[in-house]
Amino acid sequence: MKSLVLAGGMGTRLRPLTHAMPKQLVPVANKPVLFHGLEQLGRAGVTEAAVVVGDWHREIRAAVGDGSRFGLEITWLRQEAPFGLAHCVLLARDFLADDDFVMYLGDNVFSDGLTGLADTFRKRRPAAQVAVVRVPNPEEYGIVETGPDGRVTALQEKPRRPRSDLAVAGAYFFSPLVHDAVARIEPSLRGEWEITDALQLLVAEGHEVRAAEITGWWRDTGRIDDILDCNRLLLDRLETSVEGSVDRASTLLGPVVVEPGARIVRSHLRGPLIVGAGTLVEDSYVGPHTSIGADCVLTDAGLAHTILLDRATVTDVNGIHGSVIGRSARVGSSPPGGGHRLVVGDHTELRVLA
Ligand code: DAU
Repeated sequence: MKSLVLAGGMGTRLRPLTHAMPKQLVPVANKPVLFHGLEQLGRAGVTEAAVVVGDWHREIRAAVGDGSRFGLEITWLRQEAPFGLAHCVLLARDFLADDDFVMYLGDNVFSDGLTGLADTFRKRRPAAQVAVVRVPNPEEYGIVETGPDGRVTALQEKPRRPRSDLAVAGAYFFSPLVHDAVARIEPSLRGEWEITDALQLLVAEGHEVRAAEITGWWRDTGRIDDILDCNRLLLDRLETSVEGSVDRASTLLGPVVVEPGARIVRSHLRGPLIVGAGTLVEDSYVGPHTSIGADCVLTDAGLAHTILLDRATVTDVNGIHGSVIGRSARVGSSPPGGGHRLVVGDHTELRVLA
């Protein structure tokens, strides 16, 4: 089966990070979100993938390379603007030819991968199959209504009054019948060619569209809280591996990964957490569900439930919690009486103790 991976879009909900990088390259458990998906596609037996990229095409291509480390041969497709998920299918028409394919949203992570979903699709081979999951906030997703046999009877995209709590998660399996439907839909009110509308057309014309409920968890990493939550869930499966150095005055508790070249000095690490390659952690406390990128420096710092991107530094600051700190960002303390000094980029969120 081929795959169409969507890695375009704007990522406005992830500002300020997405001023400097595409949302698909934001790291969770020290690996770009997109890499988790590409690995799972490779494991599900996909060998050929087309990746749709927008303005961040250079950065994404540089990070992914030729795809061989994921077992994928990659074709790059440039989308001029985020015209919608169905527009991506139109764009990939030549690549997809008349083969079945899985469309994968490059900012989504599935805990149990795609193998089970792909098998379910292959066995029954309906016109289309969408991965679904029950959510408490269906108005933020595409949603499906289903009959008792799992056949989809109706779909809606981010409805104000949802008629079901079954959200479409970011893995869609298609037979070539989808191309005809995609070619016949019009842009929605928000100006996008919606894949939900193409699926609705297939349903209306009597084709079998099925909903396959996922096992395990799934996250769309569209917002900072989702990123932190996804990081937490991935770290919950971590196994200890210490390739860097840990001095005798330090303690490690729970699953901890210390990547090569990292140094832990007089510090307390309470996993699950990862310390990236070349990072120095000195006289600090690092608590659960924290991912520290490469070449960071923590000195007299205390943090937990946090993601630090590469080369960030934290000096003399404790109590950092539920935070995401960008590449080469510096967090430090003020001298007594100095007040808060803030050099804050556009669209940044900061919360300090009142
Ligand atoms: O995450 C699941 C949801 O994904 C579904 O429930 C919705 O039905 C579906 O429309 C989609 O909603 P989002 O608002 O989350 O989609 P987003 O704009 O975040 O795009 C998903 C991925 O596709 C993301 O990696 C960016 C990429 N993309 C998006 C658009 C609109 C493109 O590559 N090109 C595009 O034109």
